[in-house]
Amino acid sequence: MKSNKKKLSFLISGRGSNLLEILVRNTKLNYFETYSIVSNNLISKEIKKFIKNNNLNIKLYENKSNLRLSYFKNINLIFSVGYMKFINTKLINNIKIINLHPSLLPKYKGLLTHKRMLINNEKLYGFTIHEVSENLDGGKIISQKSNKIKLSDEIYLSSMHKNLEHNFVYKELIKYLN
Ligand code: GRF
Repeated sequence: MKSNKKKLSFLISGRGSNLLEILVRNTKLNYFETYSIVSNNLISKEIKKFIKNNNLNIKLYENKSNLRLSYFKNINLIFSVGYMKFINTKLINNIKIINLHPSLLPKYKGLLTHKRMLINNEKLYGFTIHEVSENLDGGKIISQKSNKIKLSDEIYLSSMHKNLEHNFVYKELIKYLN
């Protein structure tokens, strides 16, 4: 029988801690199907192990510097969760793409968000999930979560930030899919 669940693909570049958290939660709750994971680097051993141990049928594309349409067959949505490269126009025009950005947009588009926030004595940190358009970090905002910055230290802020993402990104994704 054909499932009517939405099919998603994920784009990552680094460790993929957010992606792993999403996969763990979705394996329990089963809100959507994961079709593929595409990275411009290697996909972490942790993610591969989780996929194997849970018998998940997910296509893995590693070390791919070009995002080909064939990596995303018949999917409903691409979620870029820590993908550090530009996404080509062809993909943006063909598939709905959303991105997780580590600041409260429209403030701090681009890189080094935490460093710049601390220099400017910002009171709040947080993440934004937004639609991907051709303007970098400029698409429609879908959801944001924030918290108070309690210490002006980049390592501390980065770890608080990851906790906030790990706690809320999956929930916000599910709200968006419904
Ligand atoms: C996240 O903090 C996300 O906001 C940003 O890149 C980071 C990815 O971290 N876009 P990880 O690979 O999920 O650990």
